[in-house]
Amino acid sequence: MKNIKHDWVEKRVGWLAIFATLAISIGGLVEITPLLFQKQTNVPVEGLTPYTALELEGRDIYIREGCNNCHSQMIRPFRAETERYGHYSLAGEHVWERPFLWGSKRTGPDLARVGGRYSDEWHYVHLMDPRVVVPESNMPAFPWLAENTLDGEYTAKKMEVFRQFGVPYTDEDIAGAQAAVVGKTEMEALIAYLQSLGTALQQQAN
Ligand code: HEC
Repeated sequence: MKNIKHDWVEKRVGWLAIFATLAISIGGLVEITPLLFQKQTNVPVEGLTPYTALELEGRDIYIREGCNNCHSQMIRPFRAETERYGHYSLAGEHVWERPFLWGSKRTGPDLARVGGRYSDEWHYVHLMDPRVVVPESNMPAFPWLAENTLDGEYTAKKMEVFRQFGVPYTDEDIAGAQAAVVGKTEMEALIAYLQSLGTALQQQAN
């Protein structure tokens, strides 16, 4: 039996492309649109505070150094994960994250709740040379972070952009941004960022 209609569209590449795009768009919209209106996915969890100027710079260093290529920041709601890493990640913890760093590839452990797990000194030693504290580690060393210092030239601008996206930075936060980071090392910024990860929910639980 010959399906005339099917035949017609398969011979017309332009129409095929249009129909395929239409079908995929409808599928995508049906999945994505409800999420935009769900409180659970777009309202910050209680106690969530925006990154401080120093933490924000630390986050950019985290991205620049490619930490997210080896570390995810998303704890899945499975027992094996929650026993190791803590409470599973909630969308409301990440509403101000742009771009989000959830990831899925884990060469190293998930870092969604690493904040407060180790001391600043531990992170310093670990980032200078991971094998000093974890002999079997294959994580690279990042010693230059201790030498490079921040000038904070763009910190306020970055915060202004985030404010446009709805992150509740105050005028004082932005006015004081450069002073808060200038002269600090990249290492200090990165550690401040790491220590902030996942802490909003921890505070809520306490
Ligand atoms: C090539 C992959 C790789 C890269 C890139 C990498 N790591 Fe790691 N990381 C690991 C591995 C593997 C471990 C587990 C062994 C260890 O603790 O050193 C780890 C462990 C960690 C831990 C300890 C986590 C815990 O719960 O014990 C932290 C914190 C960390 N990394 C931060 C970073 C930061 C920050 C960067 C970027 C500057 C980075 N990592 C880049 C592979 C990587």
